[in-house]
Amino acid sequence: MNRIGVLTSGEDAPGMNAAIRAVVRSGLYHDIEMVGVKYGFQGLLNESAEKLDAASVGSILQRGGTVLQSYITEEISKEAGQKKAIENLKKLKIDALIVIGGRDALHVTQSLASRGFPCIGIPATIDNDIPGIEETIGFDTALNTVIDYIDRIRDTASSHEKTSIVEVAGKDTGNLALYSGLAGGAESIVIPEKKEDVESIVEQIKRGSGNRYSIIVVAEGSVSGIDLNAKLKEEAGIESRVTVLGHTQRGGAPTARDRVLASRLGAYAIDLLMNNETGKLVGIKNNQPVNFDFDEIFSQEPRIDERMYYLSGRLSS
Ligand code: F6P
Repeated sequence: MNRIGVLTSGEDAPGMNAAIRAVVRSGLYHDIEMVGVKYGFQGLLNESAEKLDAASVGSILQRGGTVLQSYITEEISKEAGQKKAIENLKKLKIDALIVIGGRDALHVTQSLASRGFPCIGIPATIDNDIPGIEETIGFDTALNTVIDYIDRIRDTASSHEKTSIVEVAGKDTGNLALYSGLAGGAESIVIPEKKEDVESIVEQIKRGSGNRYSIIVVAEGSVSGIDLNAKLKEEAGIESRVTVLGHTQRGGAPTARDRVLASRLGAYAIDLLMNNETGKLVGIKNNQPVNFDFDEIFSQEPRIDERMYYLSGRLSS
């Protein structure tokens, strides 16, 4: 193995830069030529790649976002796009590719690997929604960002004895809402995995409306904060304020935990390639880096820890 490429794809997550740095510096340590592919898979389709040295990943460890940029393209999900990407990888003399990203990015990585190109996937998404992977890069930072906002909102909600709805990320999975709701002491948590309709959510909130004030954390994929607000007013006469955290959750300096996770997984991805192990997704289990076959991961559905959901209910009453 002489030349390894690295790219970030899909939505950015804090800690991606720390992972890029770890990949590049670990590769260089093994005398591998390292190449950064810009703009995710789109860059691969456009042959947009540049050689990276140790200095080119200097001072990025602490920065949010991704210095390699990211892009979402449909073309790479199709057979023709994947074939073209592999042709371009060969043209660029890249022997293996490391992809840092969330579910969609890792699905594409799986496809490239199954077409015979050596690939490793590093899970990075604030959603923490890769089945079987305990924690994705970016989740801890986003969680701390959300908690910071919940704490601030609680100060105001308690001073004015008002209900506040905080809408957090999570289109298909409610992990961020669940963890931030528990850590932020939310009175209600609304997540896509608990398929209550809005009426029963309103009922549940009405039952708790004896509270002086309350914080409702809602994952964007269950019901929008705006819609929930309207329903609460219409059906329960409860006035609330809505804060949609949106992209504030994606930006910001990664926490120490995310930097450590990203550094370990980045270095481990290179270790695997050095041992000629490819077609793997990396993660941490029992505090040790481990690897999984893509099929093993993607044959499962992302799940929340039900016990945490009930625990948060018990603690908030
Ligand atoms: O991956 C993080 C995330 O916040 C998802 O939860 C959400 O579905 C998506 O990004 C939204 O991204 P955008 O607002 O850029 O479309």
